[in-house]
Amino acid sequence: MNADHLFRPFAKEFDLERGEMLDPESRIARTASDMRGYYADGPALERLIREAGDPLHYEVFETPLPEAEGNLMFCISKLQPGLVGDEYFMTKGHYHQVSGAAEIYLCLRGEGLMLMKTASGECVAEPMRRGRLVYVAPHWAHRSINAGEEPLISLCLYPAGAGHNYGDIEREGFPRRVVRSGSGPTLV
Ligand code: F6R
Ligand code: ZN
Repeated sequence: MNADHLFRPFAKEFDLERGEMLDPESRIARTASDMRGYYADGPALERLIREAGDPLHYEVFETPLPEAEGNLMFCISKLQPGLVGDEYFMTKGHYHQVSGAAEIYLCLRGEGLMLMKTASGECVAEPMRRGRLVYVAPHWAHRSINAGEEPLISLCLYPAGAGHNYGDIEREGFPRRVVRSGSGPTLV
């Protein structure tokens, strides 16, 4: 095979202490108003949007890669701390479009939970904290939740052609939520 047709090797620098990818080519940002419909307390979300000026919720920093079979996507997911009513800030969550594509989250900073569910409703929550790797198995939707006081930052790795299916989880929701209670973060 002619090597000109191959994607070229490259390298990327990370600040693992701070949980940052240096010089990411792309940044996706979600603010509170992007999260309408996801939290149990809709009026609390509207108050946050109004009173805090639609604050940043989370960011994804990545280096776009060809989706061709075999490439591995890597990105940094950075979720801010905060509450909507009693519910901790979270990502939208998704299945992969290629639902059999797994994903690895290596937590670099912060504390929280990875909530995962199957289409048949089985639900599992794995704690996330610095140095802990969560394996999101094929066919499991996944959402991260920041139950701490600093940003929850993970390095994510998954097949570049996996794609994201937000529609199904928007319709189904997750069967469990993580809320603040007197005894700390609680799964309800
Ligand atoms: C990629 C992945 C993460 C999330 C990120 C934001 O497959 O799981 O990089 O994309 O944590 O969450 P979502 O995509 O659910 O808004
Ligand atoms: Zn994913």
